[in-house]
Amino acid sequence: MVNNSLQGKRALVTGGTRGIGAAIVAKLLAGGASVVTTSRTPVDNLPEGVHYIQADLGTADGATSLAAETLQYFGGGLDILVNNAASGQAHPKGAASIPDEEWQSALNTSYLSAVWVTSRLLPALLDGKGAIVNISSAVTLDVVPALAHYAGAKAALEKYSQTLAAELAPQGVRLNVVIPGNVATPGADKIRQDLADAAGIPVEAITAGTPLGRGGIPTDIAEAVGFLVSDQAQWITGTQLLVDGGASVGLAA
Ligand SMILES: NC(=O)c1ccc[n+]([C@@H]2O[C@H](COP(=O)([O-])OP(=O)(O)OC[C@H]3O[C@@H](n4cnc5c(N)ncnc54)[C@H](OP(=O)(O)O)[C@@H]3O)[C@@H](O)[C@H]2O)c1
Repeated sequence: MVNNSLQGKRALVTGGTRGIGAAIVAKLLAGGASVVTTSRTPVDNLPEGVHYIQADLGTADGATSLAAETLQYFGGGLDILVNNAASGQAHPKGAASIPDEEWQSALNTSYLSAVWVTSRLLPALLDGKGAIVNISSAVTLDVVPALAHYAGAKAALEKYSQTLAAELAPQGVRLNVVIPGNVATPGADKIRQDLADAAGIPVEAITAGTPLGRGGIPTDIAEAVGFLVSDQAQWITGTQLLVDGGASVGLAA
């Protein structure tokens, strides 16, 4: 059997200061990896051993400096990249009410940030036959007008990921996508509260019908990512792993 140890692996997880990213950082650390993470706002509660780099990935310059500092920290190599950082807000009045700058910001933070970071780190990942996981969203399977900007950006991320996975496979680099459903995190809790308030329903109603009986927690997603970056998944690339408690069963993938 192949074990799932990440001992000796060098990993970058974007947006690892809270929510899903923080759980992924903890999962990779527990597997033995050395981990770098990043956000716009520094925090003082990162687990011991995590190396923090401040960067705004909503700009290409932020991605460039993050990539350079990550490679400097790891001595030039990288084995695992998890593009998790994203941000945004709901617009309950619908797609037509979303201002131009929010469409651009969604593209930058929820799609192009992953493109920029990956492009800059690709030579190092190719050297080590690394593994990449991009975090999308189950909003790409649903229709939520209040999140049209974010859904469009994540849909672009999924198509880009599929394309790049095919390109990189012959060179030994694997790239997979994890698609979370409703997971309790600081960022998403606010979005769900805004959607519930606009609809006049309690926020609990959004996750009440989840077939597996509860909303998600960040470790649900981190476990999936931990598997996909490990050698246990050495013959898996180009996939989209839906982790949503069954909420999207029946919707087209
Ligand atoms: N939670 C859910 O229900 C859910 C569902 C589907 C998909 N997702 C996806 O899961 C991922 C994590 O979401 P989450 O719910 O854990 O969000 P979260 O609680 O808001 O955490 C987001 C993390 O990304 C960082 N970040 C945001 N914008 C950034 C930027 N421009 N540059 C650098 N870092 C940035 C944040 O730190 P700073 O704000 O300090 O920069 C934070 O560390 C995202 O890709 C999201 O789209 C989440």
